Amino acid sequence: MSSHAGHGHHDTHAADIDWDVLGPLLEQEAELNGTQYEEAARWIAALPTAPKVRRVLDIGSGPGVVSCLLAEVFPEAEVVAVDATPALLERATNRARRLGVIDRFRTLEAELPSDVDRLGEADLIWAGNSLHHLGDQRAALAGFAGLLRTGGTVALVEGGLPARRLPRDIGIGEPGLEARMTAAAATRFERMRSELPGAKREIEDWAALFTAVGLVPQGTRSFLLDLPAPVPRPVREHVIASITRERDVVGDLLTAEDRAVLDRLLDPEDPEGLHHRPDVHLLAARTVHLGRRGD
Ligand SMILES: C[S@@+](CC[C@H](N)C(=O)[O-])C[C@H]1O[C@@H](n2cnc3c(N)ncnc32)[C@H](O)[C@@H]1O
Repeated sequence: MSSHAGHGHHDTHAADIDWDVLGPLLEQEAELNGTQYEEAARWIAALPTAPKVRRVLDIGSGPGVVSCLLAEVFPEAEVVAVDATPALLERATNRARRLGVIDRFRTLEAELPSDVDRLGEADLIWAGNSLHHLGDQRAALAGFAGLLRTGGTVALVEGGLPARRLPRDIGIGEPGLEARMTAAAATRFERMRSELPGAKREIEDWAALFTAVGLVPQGTRSFLLDLPAPVPRPVREHVIASITRERDVVGDLLTAEDRAVLDRLLDPEDPEGLHHRPDVHLLAARTVHLGRRGD
């Protein structure tokens, strides 16, 4: 493998994510996972221990795809989309209006963990791919636990499996490109976490953390997104958008050869590129962990 020599460090911090620019990508991705998220929400609604859900906090809601889903699955609840990025909350509001749930929907611009006391009580707190953006995950989780009404649930979407979108051997470059991109993403993720304010290392055993903050673990389930080739156009476009993003954020952690292969894959004119390849697919898993506040 060639070295990275000559490719300087990224100037920006890995923790400084341009969330407002990511709106369309986050929205597409959550939409593709809609069936899986809905299944997760119905699992929570059907728990024998579930209280009547009257208030839901979707923490780090982003563009509000899941917030709106939660409004549909919990028809008696007010759903509050909580996020630090106003442009994403605007998307969430537009979506709620479009889907006809706006009367039970509101947004709250809040920076966590400092604003946790402004969120109010909840029967369900959903934190989808957001807890890992907070430096002290244990303290943040304890903060969420403190907002739960008796019998209420925290649902964390964390972990799962990284997406696979290409075969191991794509006929160009060294086989195993996507596995190397996953490794680069793990390096970048760790860099991101270490740069967060108040960053604290934690064993990512979510059930153990629930227990540590006084919640009772209620189960863990993974939901599979399985879209085999040939994929419809919107799926292909999402794969192209995701890989474009990954080329930007982890390209400097790959070899020059892998970067050159990515450039070919992203070239709309290249017959072997993502715009034309018949083997593009999307396979991923999301894991949901539940913790409940006892009586
Ligand atoms: C990876 S996105 C997840 C969006 C959505 N929950 C989903 O699963 O599709 C993380 C979200 O957390 C928000 N976020 C990150 N750090 C935050 C903080 N310190 N306080 C509040 N929101 C934050 C970002 O603005 C972004 O919308």
